[in-house]
Amino acid sequence: MQNSFDPTAGKPMDAAAYAAMNEALRALITGVPHLTANLANASALLYDTLPDLNWAGFYLLEGETLVLGPFQGKVACIEIPMGRGVCGTAAAEDCTQLVRDVHEFPGHIACDCASNSEIVVPIHARGAVVAVLDIDSPFVGRFTEVDRAGLEETARVLEQELAALL
Ligand code: SME
Repeated sequence: MQNSFDPTAGKPMDAAAYAAMNEALRALITGVPHLTANLANASALLYDTLPDLNWAGFYLLEGETLVLGPFQGKVACIEIPMGRGVCGTAAAEDCTQLVRDVHEFPGHIACDCASNSEIVVPIHARGAVVAVLDIDSPFVGRFTEVDRAGLEETARVLEQELAALL
């Protein structure tokens, strides 16, 4: 990767780029019966594909607490109560949180002080939220509605392919 010219490097992802990444994700995880391995590979694919990130990974709901799952980036907080921070809000409200500037989000939990913007997407199984996909960037305003649509589709792929594992 480092040695070849990549014309998409540093460019924001458009809908076509998200569609290609989500199909690559589906191919990567389909038929693999290991949740941790699949989420680890998903976080690696996301972190490698989306430009300008400093963290990408998952928190898995255990009771009323989100617990750190597979991720790429700096070490992160292990437990997030339902309703707390950006992740806990996404899980409690069952609604994607697209945060332009995390310093303006009440209760934001700072794991990596380099983070300035964040998007968190709920993941469902059996009709309820069971996890969240969390992505951070060092740039204010990094995430757009294109990212929201693309990453909500990422969550749908995970829900479809990992339904029996989540
Ligand atoms: N900022 C998140 C905490 C998780 S880290 O970003 C990895 C939040 O407020 O929920």
